[in-house]
Amino acid sequence: MNITLTINATKHEVECAPSETLLAAIRRLAYFGVKFGDEQGLSGADTVLLDGKPVNAGSMLAAQAEGHNIVTIEALGEHPEQGWKKTEGLHPLQHAFVESGAIQCGYCTPAQILAAKALLDRKPNPSEDEVRDAIAGVLCRCTGYLKPVQAVLKAAAVLRGDEPVNWDSVNWDLGSWGDKPTGDQPGDVPGDQINVMTRPKVVVTPQTQTYQTVGKPEKKVDAVKLVQGKPAFTADIDIRGMLYARVLRSPHAHARIKKIDASKAKELKGVAAVLTWQDIPRVVYSTAGQSDPIPGPLDAFSLDNKVRFVGDRVAMVAAESPEIAEKALTLIDVEYEVLDAILDSREAMKPDAIRIHDEPEFVNFADSDPDKNLAAHIRIDIGDVEKGFAEADEIFEAEYEVPKVQQAHIEPHVCVTYWDEDDRLVIRTSTQVPFHVRRMLAPVLRLPVKRIRVIKPRIGGGFGGKQEVLMEDVPAHLTIATKRPVIYEYTREEEFIGARSRHPMKIKMKTGVKRDGTITANEMYALSDTGAYGCHALTVTGNTGHKAMALYVGDGEYRKSPNIRFYADVVYTNTPPAGAFRGYGVPQGYWPVERHMEKIARAMGFDPIDFRLKNAIRPGEYHPFSTAWNEGREPRPEIVHTVGLEQCVAQGRAAIGWDDKYGNEEWRNASSSGFDGTSQPSAQREPHLRKGIGIAMVMQGTAIPYLDMGGASIKMNDDGSFNLLVGATDLGTGSDTVLAQMAAEVLGVPIEDMITYSSDTDFTPFDKGAYASSTTYISGTAAVNAAKIVAERIKIRAAAMLGLSESEYSNIRLSNRQAIAPNGKSVSLTEIALNALHKENQEQIMGVASYVSPVSPPPFAAQFAEVTVDVETGAVTVDKLVMAVDSGVIVNPLTASGQIEGGMTQALGYAVCEEMRYDEKGNAIERDLDRYHIFRADEMPALETIFVETFEPSHPFGVKAVAEIPMDGVAPAVGNAILDAVGADVDEIPVTPEKVWKVLRNK
Ligand code: FES
Repeated sequence: MNITLTINATKHEVECAPSETLLAAIRRLAYFGVKFGDEQGLSGADTVLLDGKPVNAGSMLAAQAEGHNIVTIEALGEHPEQGWKKTEGLHPLQHAFVESGAIQCGYCTPAQILAAKALLDRKPNPSEDEVRDAIAGVLCRCTGYLKPVQAVLKAAAVLRGDEPVNWDSVNWDLGSWGDKPTGDQPGDVPGDQINVMTRPKVVVTPQTQTYQTVGKPEKKVDAVKLVQGKPAFTADIDIRGMLYARVLRSPHAHARIKKIDASKAKELKGVAAVLTWQDIPRVVYSTAGQSDPIPGPLDAFSLDNKVRFVGDRVAMVAAESPEIAEKALTLIDVEYEVLDAILDSREAMKPDAIRIHDEPEFVNFADSDPDKNLAAHIRIDIGDVEKGFAEADEIFEAEYEVPKVQQAHIEPHVCVTYWDEDDRLVIRTSTQVPFHVRRMLAPVLRLPVKRIRVIKPRIGGGFGGKQEVLMEDVPAHLTIATKRPVIYEYTREEEFIGARSRHPMKIKMKTGVKRDGTITANEMYALSDTGAYGCHALTVTGNTGHKAMALYVGDGEYRKSPNIRFYADVVYTNTPPAGAFRGYGVPQGYWPVERHMEKIARAMGFDPIDFRLKNAIRPGEYHPFSTAWNEGREPRPEIVHTVGLEQCVAQGRAAIGWDDKYGNEEWRNASSSGFDGTSQPSAQREPHLRKGIGIAMVMQGTAIPYLDMGGASIKMNDDGSFNLLVGATDLGTGSDTVLAQMAAEVLGVPIEDMITYSSDTDFTPFDKGAYASSTTYISGTAAVNAAKIVAERIKIRAAAMLGLSESEYSNIRLSNRQAIAPNGKSVSLTEIALNALHKENQEQIMGVASYVSPVSPPPFAAQFAEVTVDVETGAVTVDKLVMAVDSGVIVNPLTASGQIEGGMTQALGYAVCEEMRYDEKGNAIERDLDRYHIFRADEMPALETIFVETFEPSHPFGVKAVAEIPMDGVAPAVGNAILDAVGADVDEIPVTPEKVWKVLRNK
């Protein structure tokens, strides 16, 4: 059928199928700012304005939009520099999103802006709650919504014209370690019309220097393109002849494929290829995107003659349209021999349990044993645990449970493959690990590494889910089969049944304590469920002990020789595989550890903060696990040099008002909180509501020592600007920006002179990818090292140009785009670049460097939570979260605080509502963003971030990791706050009303 769509005041004649959605039609017309997030419009990424009102383009037909005015993000603003053409620049909303740090991955940003525009067009002076309501239909998995709300309020002020906003006047509340912490809200600005400010407090370490760009809230280098909805993501591409891939998935949890007949599907008009296990090479591999060798068993195939979970692959199809591909799936006849299935991890190792991996190609790693359905076994003994227990006055034992949860990035997994003109296979994919994709898929596709090029465009969130080489093989096989470009984009249901998740675990704790509060021994056993495949099985679960059990070493003599045991079984079950998820096993560990510490402190009558600090690791002590464990490799003992935990506690407890609230029965009986956490007047008190406050202390790691390697190259251009090429993958975290800041600092230029590009396996240096909180630290050091090489070349040339002897070059400093000699003479970088490229002893000034770290300095944090519990229903409202973090020196407080806010929000879901469950046949219960609830803008508690800087000596600018640690403490802090409120221990997350109510009833 032919219809006319009016998009951004332009009429388009469109030929479309009656069933084509408006989203598909709009994107076909290259308005790529409208995104696919899910089929039902629940993510809101597909928001457009229809006659001024937000609608979900993915859940209405294109034909229904005929005769209406459609507005997409492309109608708003443009880059302020358009050559000779005068432009209006960005729309105030876009400007505010850029300046406020409201963009992380940017996948939701066009939709948020359009939803906000509809509000401001209707209501120029909205309240914060109205802004939150207006953008509530657009889910953001990255930001925690604080900065987007601030951006909308700022833009509203600009559009009203009632407040001149100086975009550069972001004031940072810089305290120092010597300052007494106060309970002031760093965000409160008296008299300011904008009532939500998102400046984190930064408590500066005495070693912190004032830099030109490091430490400054620089705008993200990719913000301007993302705010305009430019075609920056994997699927934002149109290649002539593109085919659409779909995968037939298993309806059974465990079955053999006895017969498979694809003939009818192949005959369907528009089908280009159907592949089953009989059509492609049988190559065993692991989908875990990790360094070589993969620290886990090889137990997966692109397609197999056996299926091991509901959702496992059976066949793959490429067709001229997604609809034809879907239809073809229904025409594939499969005869299954259904086998017994293991759905409960406790059943997996029983002697009579069926074997999930009986394939002869299975390759063991370390203690994996397919005969026992064991993907990994871990045992780490530090000190003498039995002696420690014998020396204790009290022994505390308890069991805890943590669920399987989803990364739920708003951009699904998506990949486009094609042969280039040299017959090299190009894999354009939304991945955190482009170099691992290339290396790991080469044998699977029977191509040499050198014939594969992996391009990573912007990533719409990953959170570990895209550390898996999960689905790139599907379009790659289909491109090989058809010679045509193929796009494969996961449906939202596939994300739930065919992607990865956080390992669920059942955990036992046993802790020995002396009467004075000294921990004498600490033991954890984890039964970890890896699902049908062992991707990340060993390393995720190893991390559970390595990071969570390292924090408490004991006091006195025990500090020198702590007694700690961690052991774990990682078992196969017939459920969708678990894998990497931000925090990588550590959130699983801190739920039991920090709930356990709280119980011990209360049972023995200690202040919960004092008890923790008494036993927590201190600067100068060995990381206990570094003496005994290294992900299956030789351990390398490592001293922890910087621990800002005490200062984090001091700052956090002041910010949340701990001393006024903890143990205060009057406060506890105050009524429900308002959004900002303030108590209602006493007249409104409701006796069924009880308030509580809780704390958790946590530590993480920074990269994997002697393994994680990052590379960077820097090239100088004619105008004195630089190309910074990194293999590191910015998945929305802002890593491209902080890498550019550090390189710019060394080269004495503003960040806008660093043209940053990541990543392409043909052009950018190797990088292990974005995981393990390593990019700022590892890839950042590589960028600094490359910048130092370039700086030296610049100084040598500047010395010659300034008439200095060559030996004097090292006294030249680079600042403000100048090379400045000690005598005050200077030459600009532009002059140096022109001299090098065109005039004397011509050379391309450039540098390439890489870095691998011998250490993994841990960041630390104190996480506080304030809750209200309804004792009649068990409902828990989290009113406020405060996190005080020691992540070393903060390179960019804007992007770093965004990481904390977004991480706390994800962790809040882990604490109270997110869970992936299965019925008795192994069918997923949660298959969309309705049943699987992630927090919306209008449901958020107040969030506050405080940075407590330490100077980590192993990094040129003193940084440690920031991205993963906010995942660790929220759940136990909330659990401890519930205990504080109602005296009830809930030992299993998420703490749903039902669980709380049951515990209260049984109290
Ligand atoms: S910035 Fe909102 S989903 Fe990533």
